[in-house]
Parts: sequence; structure tokens; C-alpha cells
Amino acid sequence: LVISDQKYVCRGSIRLVGSGGDCAGRLEVFHSGSWGTVCDDSWDIKDAHVVCRQLQCGVALSNQQVPAWFGPGSGPIWLDEVECEGNETSLWSCSSPGWGKHDCNHKEDVGVVCSDHVPLRLSGGEGRCSGRLEVYHNAVWGSVCDDQWDISDAQVVCRQLGCGAALRADGNSVFGAGEGVVWLNRVECRGNEIHLWDCPLSLKNHTDCSHKEHARLTCADSVNVRLVDGHSRCAGTVEVHHRGQWGTVCDEEWDLADAAVVCRELDCGEPVDALGDAHFGPGSGPIWMTFVLCTGSESTLKNCGSFGWGKNNCDHSKDAGVICSGKVFYIFFIHIYIRFLCFHTDF
Ligand SMILES: *[C@@H]1O[C@H](CO)[C@@H](O)[C@H](O)[C@H]1NC(C)=O
Ligand SMILES: *[C@@H]1O[C@H](CO)[C@@H](O)[C@H](O)[C@H]1NC(C)=O
Repeated sequence: LVISDQKYVCRGSIRLVGSGGDCAGRLEVFHSGSWGTVCDDSWDIKDAHVVCRQLQCGVALSNQQVPAWFGPGSGPIWLDEVECEGNETSLWSCSSPGWGKHDCNHKEDVGVVCSDHVPLRLSGGEGRCSGRLEVYHNAVWGSVCDDQWDISDAQVVCRQLGCGAALRADGNSVFGAGEGVVWLNRVECRGNEIHLWDCPLSLKNHTDCSHKEHARLTCADSVNVRLVDGHSRCAGTVEVHHRGQWGTVCDEEWDLADAAVVCRELDCGEPVDALGDAHFGPGSGPIWMTFVLCTGSESTLKNCGSFGWGKNNCDHSKDAGVICSGKVFYIFFIHIYIRFLCFHTDF
């Protein structure tokens, strides 16, 4: 054990730097009191697999689409001509000519991207599972152009971020127009890929994308509210997600303004009715909210005023419910259907 950069480092440590995460970057190895790089002469995917395994980052990705350039390092070049079988558990089981023996410069520094690397984030939305998609590449976070952006692409991003299924994929900048570079365009996933990098896509500095057209998405785990026992996802007893647990809402002061927020949050159209007295049957679990006071314009029920989480004298016989209109699309057909019925009744 030795101290470097004010941190304890084990002899024989390796690390990946310059990617914004621990599972991708320029490979550095610790030797003789300092971090140094590895030259890419005879470097291949088998060597990269060993690095990923040693760092517990999955397997090395070979797809050249991956943002894989992490720039030249500095300091000593410790290793060159590294030869692994691919099944070793550590780089130190592989062969090489020895410490500091090389004929390289820092332009040849090895970079590795492992499968557990997630150079993606969602910004400007509500929480980490909803918002504008951003990609980390060449040490800069950039956005994604929305040409051909759809729900199959969002599915892969939600999976990679561990955010459940994709609910929506949108273009234009509802979550706010991002400044700066646009790294990705023409993402064309089938929807079942494990990583975004498995999909056909174009990764470069896209100066041809208007900054008003950023890809954005909403994954299932971003949702804080749901309607249950109403035979439709747009009607039922209201449940809110708080501290990892779903609970109900008491009907004191429950009205259409509150229902409007729930319907909008669920992308279920307009509120039709705000119901009390456990209209859809008594719920279970904690009763999270009561005296909910929404103005109607909040983006989530959690942002409305209330008596305080879990503070109430209610029981489940007072659970609040909501009926939303559903999507405008269905309303249109119901409207046509009713006209059709009226016409035939008159007849
Ligand atoms: C790796 O595979 C080779 C043959 O492909 C074998 O001889 C060797 O014992 C294996 N090493 C480990 C650490 O499993
Ligand atoms: C992208 O290209 C534009 C125009 O050529 C340039 O001004 C900008 O610095 C580039 N950005 C990055 C991060 O490479």
C-alpha cells in the first residue's frame, strides 16, 4: 500500500480515467509510486477483457461506435506489448517485456470501454429517469439530435440506465434546450439491444442539428403516481410512491385540481372525476397524503402542498380516486361512436 494524489493505492492497481466513470477510459497502471499508461502495440480485445474483469466492469466492448477516445496521458509509459489469453483475472497474469520497456509516445495510450460503462444521463427533467438525453464523449457532455428518435431507442436507454421500461420518446425541447455540442444522431435501435452502442448511430460533432431538436425520454421508474383497481391505467385509486413504497391518498380536500395533476402526470388527458370514500375499494399500505392542495399546474402530485407525508387520521375507507379522460385519441373515437349510436336511436 502506498499514497498517491492524497489517496491510498494498492501496489499493482489499475484504473480507467477520462470518461466520467470508472468502467471506461485511458488505462493507467500503478508502479514504483506513480500512475503510468499502457502502449497500444499488439493490444487487442482479449487484453481489454482482462482489464474489465479485474475492475469488475463486465466485458470489454469491441464496437467501435463506443466513445472510446480518452486522449493522451502523461507521466511514464509503464507497459507495452501486453499479451493476455483473455481468461486471466488480472492484468498481472499476462505477459509483457517489463516495466517501462517501450518504443511509444502518449498518442498510443490504450483506452478501454467495458460493458458496465454508462456514458449517458438524462437532464432537465424530474429525477434521473426522465429528461433530455446526454452523452459523454471526448470529455464533454453533449446532447442527441432527434432525427429518427423513437420509443425503441428510448427502450434501450431506459434499460441501460436501470430505469425500467420506456414510456415516451419525444423530440423538441420540452425539458429545455441544451447548449453546446450535439454528439449523436440517427439512432436506430430495434429495442432489444443491451447498450445504446449496439444500435446503428452516428457519433460525431453534429453541427447540422438545430439546438431545438434534442431527443428526450421518460422511463417507467420516473413515475411517482399510479391508479389501481379501476380496470384501466387512467382510472382508479390514487397511489403515490414515497421512500420506496406505494401508498394511498386520503380524500380530505380532494378535488378536480388535484385530479388534473394526476391525469397529466400519467399522460391520461383531462380529469373527469375526483372521487372519495374508497370508490374503487379500499387500498392498502401507508396513507401517504391528505389535504392535498394542488393549483392544477404542478408537474407531479408530489409537488402539491399536503398535510405531510404519512401524517393523517384517515383509514383506507377514505382513499381518493380519479377518473381521467384517457388519451384524446380515444375520446375522439368515443365521440364518433356516441354520434353513431344517437343516429341509430333516432332512426
Ligand atoms: C486460460 O486458457 C488456457 C487455454 O486456452 C489454459 O491453458 C489456461 O489454463 C487458462 N487459464 C486460466 C487462468 O483459466
Ligand atoms: C464542434 O464543432 C464546432 C464547429 O466546427 C466547434 O466550434 C466546436 O468547438 C466543436 N465542439 C466540440 C466539443 O468538438
